[in-house]
Order: sequence, then structure tokens, then C-alpha cells
Amino acid sequence: MKIMHVVGARPNFIKLSPVHAALASRSGVEQVVVHTGQHYDDLLSDLIFRQLAMPRPDRNLGVGSGSHAAQTAAALTRLESAMQDIRPDMVLVYGDVNSTLAAALAAAKLHIPVAHVEAGLRSRDRSMPEELNRLLVDRLADLLFTPSADADENLLAEGTDPERIRLVGNVMIDSLVRLLPTAETAWPGIERTLDLADRPFGLVTLHRPANVDHPEAFGPLMAALCDLSRDLTLIFPAHPRTRARLAALGPLPPHGPRIIAPLGYLEILALQKHAALVVTDSGGIQEETTFLGVPCLTVRPNTERPVTITLGSNQLVGQDPDRLRRAAARILGSQGKAGGVPPLWDGRTGERIADILTVSATPAGHDRARPADREERHVRH
Ligand code: UD1
Repeated sequence: MKIMHVVGARPNFIKLSPVHAALASRSGVEQVVVHTGQHYDDLLSDLIFRQLAMPRPDRNLGVGSGSHAAQTAAALTRLESAMQDIRPDMVLVYGDVNSTLAAALAAAKLHIPVAHVEAGLRSRDRSMPEELNRLLVDRLADLLFTPSADADENLLAEGTDPERIRLVGNVMIDSLVRLLPTAETAWPGIERTLDLADRPFGLVTLHRPANVDHPEAFGPLMAALCDLSRDLTLIFPAHPRTRARLAALGPLPPHGPRIIAPLGYLEILALQKHAALVVTDSGGIQEETTFLGVPCLTVRPNTERPVTITLGSNQLVGQDPDRLRRAAARILGSQGKAGGVPPLWDGRTGERIADILTVSATPAGHDRARPADREERHVRH
């Protein structure tokens, strides 16, 4: 069986790694990794591959940045050619970025079976580009690998055939479980380099357009973070989009958050593990803090990962700087939210996915996926 993985942006690589490793140990599986090139900076792409000890992608399609339509269209066109050339039996897509949608659509139109890793998450906020991507990818995919029971409920409520759904757990946690010991070994050096030994610290990551693209939202949030940084050091590794928006806001006060370049995966894991609190709008960091039991304040009005709130250590503070100030004060006063780890977030999700893919490539009765049909499919196209 020839499996083509399509990835494009930083969080995709972290989800790919455990599935790729689990499939590599199965006989009769050939894997091809295609990187769309949506993320191209070393700090957002190659560094993460190196830290995950992943082989370099077999192909990089060089799609790069652009408007949503331009980026998705470029990925769609280039992925169609790559799929016609590689002729996979199945395409695996990850998460909710524009590359995920392009890959699912290109494969479905070529009648190549698609499996979606991290299916079923819903914020019910269609102003988020990722929510549109999630809705569409889950309609196109043949196999839906879900991280938590709420995702299954969302899919069933949308009328999805239960045969297509497999609750496998959270693949991002597989990478965390594998690499946390390495991150811990690196921690003394990271702590020294960032000069964090003498004072409690918090980690901040913000990159969602809704938070950083509009000064009327971003300015008050940064003012709240400047206030908070009087009580603890705030380390803020800034995504390129965020750095550009910060420059437009003007200089921060000297006591304000420390803005640094994007960090590698190991550094981000180690910082989360040792932080007094985390302020974020990232999906993956909501999950990682839940696993680590570290208080997380999510600067969004909603989340597609409600289990991080119902079971985990995450709280929503909306885009409200005063809620952020109050919630942070409660955490620093030791009244933070405790949490537990959701079921199946155990480091074995990649193996469960590999089991399902190698035992039966498709859900029962869903014969679009049969490798034997491949020749015919490609003749038709
Ligand atoms: C994308 C995903 C988002 C994910 C995030 C993880 C979509 C719609 N969004 O957002 O869900 O949380 O990745 O990081 O797919 N840029 C660089 N170097 C790069 C890549 C981007 O400087 O290597 C800059 C460019 O100015 C670009 C901007 O960042 O225009 C945004 O990049 P893009 O890939 O469009 O979206 P992200 O904000 O990274």
C-alpha cells in the first residue's frame, strides 16, 4: 500500500511524525511525504522536521504565502499533479490548515481515498478559516480519525456515516510523550539562555488573524500582557505575522513581554512544562498544556477543543483584556484551574491509526478506497 502524507504548516509536522513512524514499522507500506511549502522559513519548517527526527519531505511544492484563495489554489493545482505522478492508494491529511483542504479536495476529485487525522473538531465559528477547512475536509474524507468523543458527536450530528469515524486519540500528544524527555534534558540550557531562573515566567503565543491583524484588538491585549509582565517574565516567541503587527503597534515598555523569534518544538515543550501560566490562541498549545496540567488562558471566544476546558487546564478569556488580567491574577494567586488528561491522549494514537490503515484500508462497504481500483481510477483521469 502506498500512502501519501500531505503537510504544509508547523502543527502538521508534529501530527505527521507519530503516524509516519508507526507505519514505517509495518510491512508492505510505502510512504511518500509531500510538503506543500505553505510554511517555508527554517524556524517554522525544517527546524521542526530536524527536532522530530523526521526524514526530509520527499517533495516540497513551494506554494508559499498568499491570500487564502491564492494559497489554497496553488496547493490544489500542485497537489493534483503530485498525486497523478505518485499514484498513492491513500492520502493522509492532518489538522485544519489551507494545505489540508487542498489535499483532501485534490485527492477526492482523483477518487483517491482520503483519511483525515484530527477530524471532527468544531468551534462553530465560521469566521475562522480553519473552521471552514475542517467542515469541508470532513465531508471529503473517507476515514475520519478523531481525537476525542466530542469530535465523534460533532460528526454524527452532521449526519456522518459512523462507519467512517474512528476514535483514536490525540496524535499531537504522541509527539509530546516521545520528546518531552529530550525537551527536559535541554531545559537547563534553555532556562540559562533565556535567563529564566530567578523569577516565575509565562509563555505567550498569539498568531490568529482575529487577535493580531486588528490594532483595536491587538493593542489592548498587548497592554494587558505588559501589565502582567510586572508580576512575571513573559516570553513571547512571535510568529512572522505577529512580529509584523507588533512593529505597527510601536515600541513596548522595557518591562513588557520579551518578544523573541519563533522557537523549535523542543523549546516550546520545555517552556510549557515549566511555565507558571500560558497565554495562547494556538490549538495545539491548548492540548499540550492540558496534557502537562499547566494553566492555559486561551485568547479566543470559542475553541474547537472543548475537552481542554471540560477535562483540562484551559480557560477561555475571549479577546477581553480585563478577563485576561483577572484570570492571570487568579492563577498567580494559586487559584488556577486544575485538570486531567482526556482518554486516549496516551502516546499510542499513531499506532492505532497504523493498525486501522493496515488491517482494512477503508471502512466496510466504502469501496472507493480499494487499491485494486487504482489502475482504473488513473485511466479515468
Ligand atoms: C497557518 C494556519 C493556522 C495555523 C498556523 C500555524 C491556515 C489558514 N492557517 O497560519 O491554522 O495555526 O499556520 O503556524 O492555514 N510566513 C512567514 N514564513 C513562513 C510562513 C508564513 O514569514 O514560513 C508569514 C507570511 O507573511 C504569511 C503569514 O506568515 O503571509 C501567514 O502564513 P500562512 O501560512 O498564510 O498562515 P499562518 O498565519 O502561518
